Amino acid sequence: MRPIHSLRGFRDILPPESGLFSKIETTAREMFASYGYREIRIPTLELKELFVKSTGDTTDIVEKEMYAFEDQGKRMIAARPEGTPGVVRAYIENNLSQSGKNSKFYYIGSMFRAERPQAGRYREFTQIGVENLGNPSPFADAETITVLVRFLEKTGISGCSGSSHSSLHLGPQCGCSVEINSMGCAKCRSIYRENLLSYLKANSGDLCDSCKSRIDRNPLRALDCKTDGPVFAEKAPGISMCAECEEHFKKTGELLKISGIFFKLNPHLVRGIDYYTRTVFEVKSSALGSQDAIAGGGRYDDLVKSMGGPATPAVGWAMGLDRLVLAIKEVNPAADSPEVFVAAADKNSRIEAFRILTELRDYDIKADSSDFDASLKSQMRSADKSDARLAIIIGEEEVRSSTCIIKFLKEKLSQKTVVRNNLLSELKLILKPAVTDP
Ligand code: HAM
Repeated sequence: MRPIHSLRGFRDILPPESGLFSKIETTAREMFASYGYREIRIPTLELKELFVKSTGDTTDIVEKEMYAFEDQGKRMIAARPEGTPGVVRAYIENNLSQSGKNSKFYYIGSMFRAERPQAGRYREFTQIGVENLGNPSPFADAETITVLVRFLEKTGISGCSGSSHSSLHLGPQCGCSVEINSMGCAKCRSIYRENLLSYLKANSGDLCDSCKSRIDRNPLRALDCKTDGPVFAEKAPGISMCAECEEHFKKTGELLKISGIFFKLNPHLVRGIDYYTRTVFEVKSSALGSQDAIAGGGRYDDLVKSMGGPATPAVGWAMGLDRLVLAIKEVNPAADSPEVFVAAADKNSRIEAFRILTELRDYDIKADSSDFDASLKSQMRSADKSDARLAIIIGEEEVRSSTCIIKFLKEKLSQKTVVRNNLLSELKLILKPAVTDP
């Protein structure tokens, strides 16, 4: 039988990459809890109408990319292309505004968009997202962006702030940047819409067919259209904000500076989704190719009410986990490799090798081995393939003299013999700071 392949744009995430996914998810859970976010789990399938009314019927996501189908009950169903609409639906449906608790949520899960697959762009991808509902203040905007940057720093993506919270200490070569803009409120937006419409109509001959057909319904979409955005965004008029929106934006910027976040103002950043009001932002990484947006988000003060709930200002973001993993691997190819590989040189050293391996893992050092019964040559081939930085080699002679050999795998012919009892402290010094970090 001909083997069955996976669908285009859908992929298996295999070890060791899957380990990196899990590790980042665990970091997210721990970190968001310390910022007061609680987990929400929402369904993968929803009524299609939910996304049409929230994400927006003229967006590429809804118009061109949604996996939608009619179910047995003749209802139109869609696989969620993003998490925000489901969280808002759950907030309204479960009366969460009445719970008396804060409504700060995070979610981790698969999203589905039938886009043209390429590196960093998949049809099923994982988003980690946060949503803070009920807080209108710029403090919420600043906290939301701060938690995103701190989280990225924890995973090793630095360059977005002046702090050094990176566990992997990769330095500024990760080239990550935060861009922000304001879309204003409904009042500012209706003036902006008219200005933009006149500009686009004056240049309509150059618009792509899709933008031509939706220009009257939603002129903003031309600015994030994959074809027209790069042509029109630079010269298009920017938004002029009312005094309240101006003040909100200014305050958000001041608070971000207090958090030590570096950000760039990008007056052309409009995002590809309809519900945004006021602050919008994106984090890009120069470690990625054309799909360089690691995360994006913003405020959506009118969405809950427009979906039938109580007036509830809100702000949030979502990060593409697949893209984050690509960026981490780009700047640190060994991120998912063991730090240390243990090998036994002969029959009489296997038990001691096993003891060392267990001990290293007990001390949270990422350690691995292959088959201790195999030849040393074969074990060292596995060590090289594992991309570990160090190998610990133990043979009969080392067992007898209570020593072991540390071999530096990335530096040819470099090794040293250490006293067995000092092995852990030697490794901590060599592997610093990764081993000493909590
Ligand atoms: P978004 O910008 O559409 O925003 O998606 C957020 C992130 O998901 C992107 O920055 C990107 O990293 C990742 N992403 C999107 N499409 C793909 C794809 N096809 N393959 C891989 N990764 C992808 C939202 O989804 C909003 N719900 C964010 C938000 C939350 N706004 C307010 N709250």
